[in-house]
Amino acid sequence: MRRALLAALALGLADPAGGASSELRYTGDGQLLRPERYREWIYLSSGLGMTYGAVQDPRRSPRFDNVFVNPEAYRAFLQSGAWPDKTMFALEVRGATSQGSINKGGQYQQSLEALEIHLKDERRFPTRWAFFAFERADQQSAKPFPATSRCQECHHEHGAVDETFVQFYPTLIPVARAKGTFTAR
Ligand code: HEC
Repeated sequence: MRRALLAALALGLADPAGGASSELRYTGDGQLLRPERYREWIYLSSGLGMTYGAVQDPRRSPRFDNVFVNPEAYRAFLQSGAWPDKTMFALEVRGATSQGSINKGGQYQQSLEALEIHLKDERRFPTRWAFFAFERADQQSAKPFPATSRCQECHHEHGAVDETFVQFYPTLIPVARAKGTFTAR
């Protein structure tokens, strides 16, 4: 029994907050600590060269983005179609190339360029959700973007489910539709 509990704790399954990621940690001055194991979370989708702000320089090669969500929140979403408190998303941006090894066409991913976090912490943030960006590989903590940031604005206005872009995550669309939480945007 004790051993099972310890194992559950080690896996982050026994978290009392339900949807909480075991990787959600802040510094004393309210910065988010970089989640080190987000690559072990649930993979949702990748975008290639997506642009939704100013149009990008066409000479620049497109970048990939890969979206992950913490497993506890993912399991809750499958049940309810909604994101529980302490849901944490990671979006990593990676360079793309077509040249290397045996490749003759198409593009594959390269090194990490940035890591962005979208986090629901209802008691800490009046906007419920907050955004963070880790621009450098050695950056260990990040301050939340202000409540009036472009991040908040676009996600609030266009996200299909509770400020998140479920319309671009193909395995979640049917879940949200079935639970009635999907808004076409
Ligand atoms: C003009 C619209 C727009 C703005 C501004 C924007 N995003 Fe997003 N964001 C998107 C879209 C579209 C996706 C879906 C990406 C995909 O499908 O790969 C997304 C996805 C994300 C995700 C994955 C989780 C989710 O909510 O779906 C994170 C994390 C994220 N954005 C962080 C940020 C941060 C940090 C900022 C501000 C620095 C920001 N975004 C600004 C449109 C926007």
